[in-house]
Amino acid sequence: MKSLTIQNLSKTYFDPYAGANVTAVHDISLHVKQGEFVSIVGPSGCGKTTLLNMLAGFIPPSGGSIMIDDKPVKGPGADRGVVFQTFALFPWKTVLENVGFGPRMRGLPTAECDRIAREFLSLVGLEHAADRYPNELSGGMQQRVGVVRALANNPDVLLMDEPFASVDAQTRMTLQEELTRIWQERRPTILFITHDVAESVFLADRVVVLSKGRVLEDMPIALERPRVWEHLIEDDTFKALSAQVLHKVRSA
Ligand SMILES: Nc1ncnc2c1ncn2[C@@H]1O[C@H](COP(=O)(O)OP(=O)(O)O)[C@@H](O)[C@H]1O
Ligand SMILES: [Mg+2]
Repeated sequence: MKSLTIQNLSKTYFDPYAGANVTAVHDISLHVKQGEFVSIVGPSGCGKTTLLNMLAGFIPPSGGSIMIDDKPVKGPGADRGVVFQTFALFPWKTVLENVGFGPRMRGLPTAECDRIAREFLSLVGLEHAADRYPNELSGGMQQRVGVVRALANNPDVLLMDEPFASVDAQTRMTLQEELTRIWQERRPTILFITHDVAESVFLADRVVVLSKGRVLEDMPIALERPRVWEHLIEDDTFKALSAQVLHKVRSA
């Protein structure tokens, strides 16, 4: 795990429909410490996915820099794991092969890839599904496979863009609890993007509120861990922090 440093990052697109430039990310600077869990929250269109795509190396910034420790990010790389809302699991590979794909690409022998994949599947209670194919799994199970597939690469930084947005509310809470548990055990550096205020507060050490491509607020979340919904839903600090973040998001 390593730290992530973003300095004066910006992105301007040319919008062919409007015939004009659109600046999606304005001069963002942010430091995520090694092993820290940071959420970025903001309304639709505020530049969250643009930011994540630059961090992942999928699109080039218009200005500024991205560093993992002291190494500049120049393009996609195995040092960053990326998890999207809809996971592109390989439909022709089993769950075990999907999770073992990264280790396989790194040249590890099959037996070792299988061992790593099983270890990660056990983190999300899916050992029993190892030999199934993605289309034989529920949506929630597929998201779990997507998360552990990213983790199995042992990335320095895990970048997540609304990974739980398309699962039902109960499964989503379970996935959030699982993610915080896994993070506590393994302490990857995580940047988690969401438009959901409660999710941003529940998960993170710090919530960064984004508005029109700028950082509006950077708020520490001093809630104890492990975090469990049944407790937090009644917790006054959680409620107060969520209200504060909501207020900022709505003023965005
Ligand atoms: N490829 C693109 N070309 C032109 N404009 C884009 C492109 N991608 C995103 N945008 C614009 O940039 C802004 C931010 O979009 P996005 O990063 O997807 O926001 P979010 O993920 O917060 O919803 C929006 O105004 C969107 O229309
Ligand atoms: Mg988005």
